[in-house]
Amino acid sequence: MSNTIAKKTKQIIPRHIAIVMDGNGRWAKEKHRPRLFGHKQGVETVREIIKMCNGIGVECLTLFAFSSENWKRPEEEVSGLMKLFMMALEREAKSLAKNGVILEFIGDRSAFSKKLQQKITQVEKLTASGKGVRLVIAANYGGRWDILQASHKMQQQAIKDNSATIDENAFNRLLSTQHLPDPDLFIRTGGERRISNFLLWQLAYTELYFTDVLWPDFNRNELQLAIEDFSSRQRRFGRTGEQVQTAKGE
Ligand code: IPE
Ligand code: IPE
Ligand code: MG
Repeated sequence: MSNTIAKKTKQIIPRHIAIVMDGNGRWAKEKHRPRLFGHKQGVETVREIIKMCNGIGVECLTLFAFSSENWKRPEEEVSGLMKLFMMALEREAKSLAKNGVILEFIGDRSAFSKKLQQKITQVEKLTASGKGVRLVIAANYGGRWDILQASHKMQQQAIKDNSATIDENAFNRLLSTQHLPDPDLFIRTGGERRISNFLLWQLAYTELYFTDVLWPDFNRNELQLAIEDFSSRQRRFGRTGEQVQTAKGE
């Protein structure tokens, strides 16, 4: 099936893939195991997906790991997740650096423990000179938070210089994703069809892909299917289909 699609459509590798990794809890529940077991398995999926993205030349992979609303979860789950982030960073840092992966975090990290904040900074420094995929972990991230923090900065600029330009480019430069292209492909696993306060501004023209597969079961083949689906779409950015075809010389 996947081969048939691949033959019909030339595969286009998205420059930037953004993923809402959802379904860890339900995956664990199906197995009568605690939710944290699902999160642990989710880390294994993360490892596979990074390797694949690095291998096929994706420039940037943004993963939603913890939303600004996830603090509302039971204390035990939140503290388990914080421990898991710490462990994953400790365990993976060297191999990420070795494979040229550039790791960075977006979101309000000031809410994390000092120890975790230090670890994040340390791994960001360690991997900064990589030549491979840029892996962006959205942690304590919210799309509304990002828009608000950019607006505050813009307000400060306007106070200093009341002729400061307020336009899309200027605003883009103040978002936490200022150095990244907008996502080309958005993937949400776990069956829900919503954004859940992920990259609200940046997703304006992103192709959306939803799958019922739970994140711990997501794998290279599932990502391949998402990329094939993405490759078959016509991105028009407001223009007509005919205009896009002409521009492509088809
Ligand atoms: C996503 O999986 C991971 C995080 C939000 C940290 P969930 O934990 O939301 O899994 P479900 O949606 O309950 O199955
Ligand atoms: C979105 O998943 C956040 C992450 C995957 C980190 P949620 O499970 O928190 O989303 P809702 O609550 O179902 O919308
Ligand atoms: Mg969920």
